Amino acid sequence: MQKNNLIKNPNLFPRITDIPQPLLKDMPCIQTGYLVDGEIQVWDGPRQEVLSPVWVAGDTGPKPFLIGEYPLLTEKEALQALDAAVAAYDHGRGLWPTLSVADRIDHMEQFVFRMIEVKERVVRFLMWEIGKSLVDSQKEFDRTIQYINDTLAALKDLDRTSSRFSMEEGIIGQIRRAPLGVVLCMGPFNYPLNETFTTLIPALVMGNSVILKPPKHGALLYAPLLEAFCQIFPKGVINIIYGEGRKLIPPLMASGKINVLGLIGTSKTANALKKLHPHPNRLRCVLGLEAKNPAIVLKGADLDLAVKECVLGCLSFNGQRCTALKILFVETDIVNVFLERFAAAVNALTFGMPWQEGVFITPVAEKDKTSYLEALVSDAVEQGAKIINTDRPTVCGSFFFPAILYPVTPKMRVYHEEQFGPVIPVLAFKNINEPVEYMINSNYGQQVSIFGSNPDQIASLIDPLVNQVCRVNINSQCQRGPDTFPFTGRKDSAEGTLSVSDALRVFSIRTLVAAKQTDLNKKIITRIVRDRKSKFLATDFIL
Ligand code: G3H
Repeated sequence: MQKNNLIKNPNLFPRITDIPQPLLKDMPCIQTGYLVDGEIQVWDGPRQEVLSPVWVAGDTGPKPFLIGEYPLLTEKEALQALDAAVAAYDHGRGLWPTLSVADRIDHMEQFVFRMIEVKERVVRFLMWEIGKSLVDSQKEFDRTIQYINDTLAALKDLDRTSSRFSMEEGIIGQIRRAPLGVVLCMGPFNYPLNETFTTLIPALVMGNSVILKPPKHGALLYAPLLEAFCQIFPKGVINIIYGEGRKLIPPLMASGKINVLGLIGTSKTANALKKLHPHPNRLRCVLGLEAKNPAIVLKGADLDLAVKECVLGCLSFNGQRCTALKILFVETDIVNVFLERFAAAVNALTFGMPWQEGVFITPVAEKDKTSYLEALVSDAVEQGAKIINTDRPTVCGSFFFPAILYPVTPKMRVYHEEQFGPVIPVLAFKNINEPVEYMINSNYGQQVSIFGSNPDQIASLIDPLVNQVCRVNINSQCQRGPDTFPFTGRKDSAEGTLSVSDALRVFSIRTLVAAKQTDLNKKIITRIVRDRKSKFLATDFIL
């Protein structure tokens, strides 16, 4: 593994013979299966080649590495998936939406068991497809299992509180949460398993039927899960389709049969898709979108801590996190000392192949991303910023060694654009209103990090900033977890709240049975409950 000396090491990518053999198992993975209407269908049409961001060295230099192929389905198969999901839901009368909560939990528990059996394969593909370190890929898998288990525990709790009757103003009522219909789930490439599952799992377990389209980078890792999805859930309840989003998704939305759009992606995509739905009032959107989370570093902050958290916040998974710190505001009096320490910490980061022990910076996941990042850096440099941690080129194939840009001004693209990569714009401020105004004028409103030690000063920022964003982090980087905490954003950053318990709510609606407390009604209700004639009107308590 290496430090910031890319120029001296043009051969930083491995030869195929240098790659540990077990990591090459099942490679390339030629996937032809997709899941529609309870069957793994075989696709013999065109397929998408999957190139890993991890390039492989050869005699003519490093080249992208082919790790597999997946089906490029057409509108026809997408609409078949829609028909299957609509039929499985059957206007709320299908087997799955009418199954008891305990039975749906039972299916999900079986799924978790099967998922754990294929962990090694899923993790390996996760690593190859997006270049996430093996350790972090394993963490993503484990976090997802934990998320499912926590979701099931939260659902049991929800069901227990709904298993009793309410008596108000002479009316008996039983209030529960019911499914919404057909959910379209699309997750992002940076957490292709975890973030997709944070919408998929609550959507399923609440009784909806689902069409899932895995992200472009992060599709092969679903292959080991297809069989379990197919065997465990009733037919049509979960449908998994592959291909180009711009071809598959618009016809689904235009059909008017999608009831919930669960998308972690960009506001541009979300806005375009919403407009296609002919009945906007029948569409609920659960969206995780862009962010440009700032850090505000105040005079008096513990600089060692601020530097450590800013390195993690800006550069974990190469800055490819929606929660990443994407712009740093540092008080003028301390900006030089902060930058000196920050640059040293960034330059000390190890970069290498995702499987190497202790690796921090890995190749960036998206094709052509390095060109975009280079353009951001050139624009800033042309307008007066300097790359303060290095004077050397920072790109080699799909590697982009972090560039810290200072001083950044509003004229530069990097001040406004969500870089989603290892470029770190820094500004100095004299007046605290400068970062606050930045947040007010920003299109985004997810989180902020404040670094400081003066409680009065921090308190005076908390009150205005909680109304600008949805999480104010004190002396720590921005992040989604713990997953039981609400995760959302204002403006163009999100719609709806995701957390273990909030997600159960966003993928369902409250519905109730009510009756005046007459003798006849009491008799009817008692009979229904005692003879277990209804799954909704019931007092069963999940233990
Ligand atoms: O990309 C956005 C993720 O939700 C961030 O999650 O803060 O756990 O990395 P994280």
